[in-house]
Amino acid sequence: MTTTTAAPLLQVRNLRKHYISPKRWLRPARPAIQAVDGVSFSVARGETLSLVGESGCGKTTTAKSVMRLVEPTSGSVQLEGEELLTLSANEMRLRRRQLQIIFQDPYASLNPRLTASDIVAEPMRNFSNFGTGTAAERRERVQWLFSRVGLRPEAAKKFPHEFSGGQRQRLGIARALALNPKLIVCDEPVSALDVSVQAQVVNLLMDLQAEFGIAYLFVAHDLAVVRHISHRVAVMYLGHIVEIADRDTLFSAPRHPYTEILLSAVPVPNPRTPARRMLLQGDPPSPANPPSGCRFHTRCPMAQAVCKEQVPELTERPSSSNGGHWVACHFR
Ligand SMILES: Nc1ncnc2c1ncn2[C@@H]1O[C@H](COP(=O)(O)OP(=O)(O)OP(=O)(O)O)[C@@H](O)[C@H]1O
Ligand SMILES: [Mg+2]
Repeated sequence: MTTTTAAPLLQVRNLRKHYISPKRWLRPARPAIQAVDGVSFSVARGETLSLVGESGCGKTTTAKSVMRLVEPTSGSVQLEGEELLTLSANEMRLRRRQLQIIFQDPYASLNPRLTASDIVAEPMRNFSNFGTGTAAERRERVQWLFSRVGLRPEAAKKFPHEFSGGQRQRLGIARALALNPKLIVCDEPVSALDVSVQAQVVNLLMDLQAEFGIAYLFVAHDLAVVRHISHRVAVMYLGHIVEIADRDTLFSAPRHPYTEILLSAVPVPNPRTPARRMLLQGDPPSPANPPSGCRFHTRCPMAQAVCKEQVPELTERPSSSNGGHWVACHFR
């Protein structure tokens, strides 16, 4: 039997995460928060798939569920064809070599009592039974990682609070790279940085991808950053994916009304093209009590009766888009 290598690096199917608030005496049970409610997507080797959408639509919950930093309610997450959600805690720990995460605020995720070199060496020490070399080899690799992410060798002895925001994110990236991961989940990795520093860190991530073939699941608010870094983009609304397409198709020919509105808020690079402004009305509905049918129908300019009654499936539409153009709308 021949094994197929066509399986994507990461395949997520029907992922759900409902947060249930603990029962308290004499307090009525609160409805579960349907933060992520049946999302499916894949990430190929060396690819960047971005997740975009308004605050609270479930991007971080999706990212953390893939890593099992929160335990998904149901669904499937496969890494190179292997199901992650049924692994024991110990088996999952071993897979974390392949799967790393970087956060918006590296300060919160870096141990303030360790020096920079210890922070980067720590994952290698934790996996020292699995071929991460001798202590001397690990020290050498730390130095190499420092240079690779653009940190000076002197930075090795510093503590996290002695770094600037951009340098701290470089340190977080060096630590994520330490074990040669295949996928790095990036949750708003540049959102807290100054614009000029943002560009440097985004370019660093892209250089590392070109060099090591790392795939990124990239969460961001800033659509200019998303446009720069992504191969494909998935648009989320209230726990659902409403559209997925390759970057150019999504930005030039979006189909879902929500995507259109989201993109219309982005400054147009050519000042002669009139800006399309169709900003969203009001706040998104609560994920504890989402609208029936299409979750976007309460804010959608195209909504008809069917949208209130039937959930539109995410289905593939004819297109030349690389990886397909998938849309969940009754009319587009
Ligand atoms: N631990 C938790 N317990 C209960 N509800 C949660 C928890 N974490 C997130 N939520 C809720 O789940 C929904 C999705 O949150 P999530 O953080 O995934 O959104 P997001 O898209 O990352 O938003 P942002 O862009 O603001 O980071 C929100 O309504 C949020 O309030
Ligand atoms: Mg978030």
